[in-house]
Amino acid sequence: NNHSSDSRGALIVLEGLDRCGKTTQSSRLLSYLEELGHTVESWRFPDRTTNVGQMISSYLANKSHLDDHTIHLLFSANRWEKRSLMESKLKSGTTLIIDRYSYSGVSFSSAKGLDVEWCKAPEIGLLAPDLVLYLEISPENAAERGGYGEERYEQLEFQKKVAQSYKTLRDASWKIIDATLPIEDVEKQVRDTVLNCVETCREGKPLSELWL
Ligand code: TMP
Repeated sequence: NNHSSDSRGALIVLEGLDRCGKTTQSSRLLSYLEELGHTVESWRFPDRTTNVGQMISSYLANKSHLDDHTIHLLFSANRWEKRSLMESKLKSGTTLIIDRYSYSGVSFSSAKGLDVEWCKAPEIGLLAPDLVLYLEISPENAAERGGYGEERYEQLEFQKKVAQSYKTLRDASWKIIDATLPIEDVEKQVRDTVLNCVETCREGKPLSELWL
C-alpha cells in the first residue's frame, strides 16, 4: 500500500430507503477497508449524539412535533455541525463511510411536499461525496424485510414518495446497486466501486462542495 502523506481520504455515502441494507453494508465495508490497511471511519446521519441530533431523535420517535421546515433545517444543521471535522479527517487521509447524507435530507422532506430547491438550499456548501452508493429496493420489498419499526417515516406510502424523490437527485457520483441481491453480491459490487473511488481520491481528485 502506498499511502503518501498528502493523499486524501474518500467521502463515500450510502443512501436508500429504510430497510434497504445500508447499515449492514457500511459495517462490512468498514471492516473490508480496515483489513486492506486503509484509515477509515464509519459515520451516520442523523448523528443523534449532538444536541441537535437529540431533537431529531425525539422527533423521529414521535416524542415531539416540529414543523416540516424546522425539522428539515435541523437535519441540515446536524450535517453542518460535523462539516469541519469531516473536512479535516478527509484531508488527513481518512476515508469516511457515511450512512445517509444530504440526499436523504432532500428526499424525505420533499416527499412531504416541500419544494425541492428550498430543500437543497441549506445543503449548499457541505462537502460533496466522491461516491454515492444507492442501494435500490422497491418500497414493498423493503417493507417486507423484518417489518418497519416505530419511527415516523417507516410507512409504505411515504417510502414510495421518498423513492420517487431520490430518483430526481441522481448525478454522476451515484452508483445504483441492486439491493435485492444476496448480501455477498451486494457487498462485492460495493467493494469494487469503492476501491476505485478511494484510488481516484488518493491520486489527487479535489474535494468539492454540494451541489455538483
Ligand atoms: P436512520 O434510520 O438511518 O437513523 O434515519 C432516520 C430517519 O431520518 C430515516 O427515516 C431517514 C430520515 N432522514 C431525514 O428525513 N433527513 C435527513 O437528512 C436524514 C439524514 C435522515
